[in-house]
Amino acid sequence: MFYETAKGDHGLGRDPFKSLVVPRPIGWISTISPEGVVNLAPYSFFNAVAEHPPAVCFAPGGRKADRPFKDTRRNAEATGEFVVNLATYDLRESMNATSASLPADVDEMALAGLTPVPSRLVRPPRVAESPVHLECRYLKTVELPSLEADEPNAIVIGMVVGVHIRDEAIRDGRVDLMRFQPIARLGYSQYTTVDNVFSMRFPD
Ligand SMILES: Cc1cc2nc3c(=O)[nH]c(=O)nc-3n(C[C@H](O)[C@H](O)[C@H](O)COP(=O)(O)O)c2cc1C
Repeated sequence: MFYETAKGDHGLGRDPFKSLVVPRPIGWISTISPEGVVNLAPYSFFNAVAEHPPAVCFAPGGRKADRPFKDTRRNAEATGEFVVNLATYDLRESMNATSASLPADVDEMALAGLTPVPSRLVRPPRVAESPVHLECRYLKTVELPSLEADEPNAIVIGMVVGVHIRDEAIRDGRVDLMRFQPIARLGYSQYTTVDNVFSMRFPD
């Protein structure tokens, strides 16, 4: 089959696009609002985009009913800081709970029963229950086209300035996250876990 995205003539019950770019890692992002409220939300339009120095990006789309941007974007832009927490299979329900549309003054970390721990270089706290945290400084926002003027799409890019790895995730000098089962998004309501690996070397 073939369809043109602008026409949406795929003939399927749901737009298949997000089920075709898989798996997408989940950036579970903590921020603090200018008013001091802790915010936590998952983003699967998320990835690492550079290594030296390390950078990550996430893409908020749409808005909240009473405010023009999602809180994670607003807070990252306003304070210049965010933290990416690794979402794992054990944390899947908490991760999902933090995606609820809530008023800006609700602390989603507390709401989901998660434990905040201070970061070293930035103000937003880390999720203690998560085995990996990336402390980030906001770099820039790249605006993307959107279908509605009040439904903005954008890519938010940050530099990773500090990295926390739980000791049990390091084995023989290498990160081994298999036992923590990082989760990732597929299409529809589907997720997958990272729990098997294979190796290949570069040809040259
Ligand atoms: C697994 C998962 C991945 C998500 N990925 C995105 C995403 O990439 N972009 C986005 O705008 N919303 C995404 N959402 C929805 C947001 O988490 C949701 O809109 C949330 O309320 C945003 O919170 P915030 O306003 O505190 O940033 C995702 C939700 C889930 C459960």
